[in-house]
Amino acid sequence: MRKIALVNQKGGCGKTTTAINLAGCLAGEGRKVLLIDLDPQGHSALGLGVKPDEIEKTIYEVLSEKIPISKAIQILRENLSAVFSDVVLSAFEQVMAGVPGREYRLVQNLEHIENNYDYLIIDSPPSIGLLTFNGLMASREVIIPVDSSFFSLHGLRKLIDTIRIIEEKVEHRLSIKILATNIDLRTNFCRGVMETLRAEFPEKCFKTVIHTCTRLREAAIHGKPIAEYDKQCAAFRDYQNLTEEIIDEEAEMDAEIRGHESLFTDDKSSTEPVERKIVFTLEAPETAAVQIAGDFNNWIPEALDLCDPMSKPTWQKIIPLKPGAYQYKYLIDGWWITDPENDKVVNDPTGHTNSVINI
Ligand SMILES: Nc1ncnc2c1ncn2[C@@H]1O[C@H](COP(=O)(O)OP(=O)(O)OP(=O)(O)O)[C@@H](O)[C@H]1O
Ligand SMILES: [Mg+2]
Repeated sequence: MRKIALVNQKGGCGKTTTAINLAGCLAGEGRKVLLIDLDPQGHSALGLGVKPDEIEKTIYEVLSEKIPISKAIQILRENLSAVFSDVVLSAFEQVMAGVPGREYRLVQNLEHIENNYDYLIIDSPPSIGLLTFNGLMASREVIIPVDSSFFSLHGLRKLIDTIRIIEEKVEHRLSIKILATNIDLRTNFCRGVMETLRAEFPEKCFKTVIHTCTRLREAAIHGKPIAEYDKQCAAFRDYQNLTEEIIDEEAEMDAEIRGHESLFTDDKSSTEPVERKIVFTLEAPETAAVQIAGDFNNWIPEALDLCDPMSKPTWQKIIPLKPGAYQYKYLIDGWWITDPENDKVVNDPTGHTNSVINI
């Protein structure tokens, strides 16, 4: 499954419009698509003609671990399903404050449906907070829609820097592409914006440009992707071109995703049990030396990385583990402790108490 997040902290630059129409066009090309709305504004549902009272379960309930993601998926059309949001999602950041691993809630949920879709398209809110962070961690690709304003160009540079910092901190590689949206090439200003984008980010810009097209606004009001509303307009042609550009990258991206996964999994052709990436997380002061040791590394302590750029200092290590039971402990500044987030403990033959994880 290719996982693509639409991200830009600037509001109104075309994230939702692109999420809906890219998802619609990919579905039209026979790809199985799941759209997830991580924006409490809930615009994806509106843009796809789903009224608030038709949404039974939301992404909030999934991320709060009240229900599995499969229970929140709504089948909309052939090849197109979605998990929608509503305003309650705006409480997520506050409710999850201080909860270890909160940036990985979406990743963990996706594990169960990984093989059911060809594409995951994530719509994000206009901020780089916990929700967008969940989207970034769940994605391998980021599309940044950029509209034609001075503020957009300024924000774009900052956003790319921010994503790179996040990538380094949590060692999660993301491919970034820029999509120019709402562009009226009849104006000198828009032509200037396009020139700047292509000069500054030659490798990152999609060839496709989404031109200004009022039919897109109308389609959103009627709750339809442009592919269903008007196949004659410029916007349909543009989103179809974008879709083809993305589909053309499939072989390349699949190889990259396989390469990435092979870091964590055994050869798929073997009958060996598949390893899972287990995220060990611990809150501890930034100045501490934090290590983990257990059955999986012959009790030779390995350092955790300080990884939480959001708020409280959180340390983390991703360890690939095959199914089984593993005893482990953390070591903070030379002091052994059991995992404060894990109730399961055993006493080893020497009388020490260790945490246990069952995979
Ligand atoms: N190419 C376009 N031509 C004309 N109007 C457009 C185009 N793209 C987007 N719009 C309109 O611009 C407005 C903002 O678009 P959209 O909601 O997709 O932005 P957004 O980035 O998701 O906003 P937010 O950050 O608030 O979630 C909408 O009214 C949409 O219909
Ligand atoms: Mg939006």
